[in-house]
Amino acid sequence: MSSFRPEKIGLYASGGDAPGMNAAIRAVVRSASAHQIPVVGIISGYSGMLSKKFVDLSSRSMGNIIQRGGSILKAGRCPEFHKKEHRKKAVENLRMVGIDSLICIGGDGSFTGALALWNEHKFPCIGIPGTIDNDIYGTDTTVGFDTAVNTALDAIDKIRDTASSHDRLFIVEVMGRNSGYIALNVGVAGGAEEIFAPEYPITTDHVVRKIKESHEKGKLSSILVMAEGQKPGRAYDLAEALRKKCGLDAKVCILGHIQRGGSPTANDRILASYLGHASVEALLNFKQSCMVGMVNGKVIQTSFDDAIHKEKKPSRDLLDLCEILAMS
Ligand code: ADP
Ligand code: F6P
Repeated sequence: MSSFRPEKIGLYASGGDAPGMNAAIRAVVRSASAHQIPVVGIISGYSGMLSKKFVDLSSRSMGNIIQRGGSILKAGRCPEFHKKEHRKKAVENLRMVGIDSLICIGGDGSFTGALALWNEHKFPCIGIPGTIDNDIYGTDTTVGFDTAVNTALDAIDKIRDTASSHDRLFIVEVMGRNSGYIALNVGVAGGAEEIFAPEYPITTDHVVRKIKESHEKGKLSSILVMAEGQKPGRAYDLAEALRKKCGLDAKVCILGHIQRGGSPTANDRILASYLGHASVEALLNFKQSCMVGMVNGKVIQTSFDDAIHKEKKPSRDLLDLCEILAMS
């Protein structure tokens, strides 16, 4: 344990935006302010470190943002950060304005950048898991996941009205880069007939058989929920396969980025508030390179190495539950 105490914290959001990022930003700034530690916002994540886009954040300026989607500090990707020389430049820029520690809201890619800053320059950084994908080890849910699930669910409820009025088959594609968390949760909550999650692949033959059985029982409308990361294809490929195999005419709806926007749910705001506060406390308790997360209702700290590399997998129970409850 070292005797490091932050003098000025740099705060940034990185990767894809997620609902609840603003609630986390507010919690960081106000928690730091309670300890008289100034916070500087870094605009657009690692790009802002390279282009010196820094803005002072006062406690008062955090008013009226807790309910807003997106990120007031912007977010985004910065390919240059994969190169050592750019990371060195970023650290020089940070030190030039007196920033001596960082808080990063993002996913595993963003944390990989933060870990490199620690390994190469001993630059402290605490991570707050912020991504709709919920694919980060060391927290039960990530900031943004609950809102994305509820947004997708709202859409599926609406699609079901048309599916049932017209006896149609719909394939709804949800987000989740290589991650079935959104698909599995939305599928069960929306009463889907089948869920395609990358972690638990099912075959089109299985789906065809299930749909035929449903038809024989008089159930003529169905919703299949599919994660975008599903191999080998995406929703239109599945629709084409179903058409070729058994002449089924499936309508496709790709929900896309509407799942990333919108006002965060209460769950996401509360999680973001806890973790924003915990990230500042972690720095004050001499933690220098880790992620804060919420597991079983308790805030915990996880090394970046584990958060990035340890596998987190949704429970298969959700798929099994869907299979049982979808039986007509
Ligand atoms: P997320 O944080 O949501 O996983 P990305 O994977 O797109 O999003 O990563 C966000 C940014 O983090 C990248 O654009 C890049 O600037 C930085 N990053 C990702 N991977 C690395 C890496 N291996 N080394 C350094 N920086 C990285
Ligand atoms: O990681 C979050 C996420 O929304 C994924 O679910 C999706 O695959 C990806 O980002 C899309 O990223 P972009 O909007 O940058 O194309």
